[in-house]
Order: sequence, then C-alpha cells, then structure tokens
Amino acid sequence: MTQKILVLPGDGIGPEITAQASRILAACQARGLDVEVEEGLLGGAAYDAHGEPLPVETLEKAQAARAILLGAVGGPEWDRLEDLTKRPEKGLLGVRKQLGLFGNLRPAITYPQLAAASSLKPELVAGLDIMIVRELTGGIYFGQPRGIEERNGERVGFNTYVYSESEIERIGRVAFEMARKRDKRLCSVDKANVLEATILWREVMERLAPEYPDVELSHMYVDNAAMQLVRAPKQFDVVVTGNMFGDILSDAAAMLTGSIGMLPSASLNESGQGMYEPCHGSAPDIAGQGIANPLATILSVAMMLRYSLDAPVLAERIEGAVGKVLDEGLRTADIAAEDTRTVSTAEMGDAVLAAFEAL
Ligand code: IPM
Ligand code: MG
Repeated sequence: MTQKILVLPGDGIGPEITAQASRILAACQARGLDVEVEEGLLGGAAYDAHGEPLPVETLEKAQAARAILLGAVGGPEWDRLEDLTKRPEKGLLGVRKQLGLFGNLRPAITYPQLAAASSLKPELVAGLDIMIVRELTGGIYFGQPRGIEERNGERVGFNTYVYSESEIERIGRVAFEMARKRDKRLCSVDKANVLEATILWREVMERLAPEYPDVELSHMYVDNAAMQLVRAPKQFDVVVTGNMFGDILSDAAAMLTGSIGMLPSASLNESGQGMYEPCHGSAPDIAGQGIANPLATILSVAMMLRYSLDAPVLAERIEGAVGKVLDEGLRTADIAAEDTRTVSTAEMGDAVLAAFEAL
C-alpha cells in the first residue's frame, strides 16, 4: 500500500535542508519505496500565510501521513509575537501532541571522520554512540496550570512539571527495548533529590527493570548527567529522561559529535507513525545563504525509513552514502577542517545523492 509522507520545510534554513533530503527521498522512490510525498506549512511560514503556526489543513495532512519530515521552525521575526500560542514553536509542539508522538529518539553518533571537529578531545568522543530517549508530549512543556498572572501586585510566571505513571511507563518501555537492541545499558536521568515528579519517574523505571533482566538500569541526577556528558560521554549507551531534561541534554550530546548539524531525530507514537527532524533549529543567522548542513535532515530520512516505513536496507544505503561523502573530505562550513573541501548545502546534497546511487 502506498504510504503518505508529509514534508514540512518550516522556517529559516528549513526549506534549504528539506529540499536536499527530498531529493534523497525521491531517489528511494525510484528504487521502489512506495510513498506519495506532499508538502505543508508549519511554524512561522504557516503563521504568515494563515495566521496560525499549525493550520487545520496541515494538522489533517499530518494525521493522514505515515511519516512527516520536518525542517525546522522559528526565527526572530516571530519572537516578538506576544501571543505565545501563535509562535512557530507552538506549531511544532502541536503536531507532537496531537499525533501523540511521545517517544523521541536522538542518537548522538560521532562519525570517525569528524572526531576532530568535536569541542572535546578526539579520544573522548571517537566511537561515541549514545541514544537519548526523550519523553516528548508531557512534563513541564505541557503541564497545567501554566501562565503569567498578577499576584500581590507583581507578575508571576508559572509552569507545572507533571508526569503520570502511565506516561513514564510507556517511555520507559521504549528505552528498555532500545537498550535491549544495543549495549543493554540504560541510564535514567532525573532530579529525584528535589522534584516529586521525578521521584515517581525513578520508581516507575525501577518497577519496569525486572521485566528487562538483560538490561542494566542505572539512575543519574540531571546536573551530574550534564557534567558526565562532557567529562566521559562514552560511559552512556541509552539515556532516558523527561521532556525538558531531554531537550537540554540532547543539545549537549549533539555537540560532542562535532556539529549539531549532523544529528537526526525520530518522534514516534504507539503505531509507528512518526515525525523526523534534524535536532538543530532554524538557524536564521545563516538562512538563505545555501551553506547549511543538510546531513541531519538526510539522516532523518534514514531514520524514517527504518522506524516508520520498514525499509532498513534503504536506510543503510543513505547512512553509507553520508559516510562515503565524509570520507571523500566534503564538508559544509559547520564541520569544515583544514584538509577538507567546504561545499554548499546543494553540493552536499549532490554528493550524497551520487554516493547513494553508486553504492
Ligand atoms: C527541540 C527544540 C524544540 C523543543 C523547540 C523548538 C520547541 O528545541 O526539538 O529540541 O524544545 O522541543
Ligand atoms: Mg532543543
């Protein structure tokens, strides 16, 4: 059966990088991938066209799609919108919530060719392979009550950090299963020395552990986890954590690999429907210049093939093509080094496509 893919280029560098990833997707179609691709508006682009960051039309297309490929949303032109519900980020959070995409997989893998591009010493990051499993539809991002209101003559801002047992359990299971397929070590990150929501988090993880006797479960406070990620990152295999801690730790982990421009992500619901996006943002400072790194988005297509479309062979082919291009010494500006050749976004796309065809 033909599956539907929705491409949401979004804002900033989003359209440039999704254009390259779409070419790879088309090459997969030419090799028999049975998908139908359409485009939609999300974020600031959608706000400008329809006054909403997540128009009904986009939501309906998203619900009908097996998988969504997203560029990035946001930019300074929308940061001054006082109504927070109109901000581009709300469009992204809306898709995650409406589709129930609670399981966010953020792999931080250091390509051997890029070990020198990391801000850490190459020996600390060579061979790094961490999978961060971030809960994506709960926690303080969505907790009620929330707001800014007047109390005792001054304004007060407040949010609620809330997790139910069932929410913790379902992300816990995703993480245990993931660890099972990897090095069988799972580190759950919380702040159980201070926050009740994460005391419960730790309890639920402990309760699940006997069902996965082959996986070694450990716990770490989030402040220590941040430190350990930059001190000795290779100690981690799979990390599971809540929405906000996962947001922060995944940016830190991304940088270990040389550039946040390399990191793909998958956000999945229980039926395997997913949204795939690079971990980096819309990078308004370099938008429109044709210099952004499209590899995280191209690698997001590989994750889409693996997790939503059951096409692991094509996924490996894409990953192999990216490795080959890096071997050839081609780099976008963010990962450039002394003895490499700096190329544009489109040239990087050309090179990956050529390597994909040649493999
Ligand atoms: C991410 C981003 C988003 C988040 C923003 C754009 C809302 O930082 O995907 O990590 O905080 O989840
Ligand atoms: Mg983030």
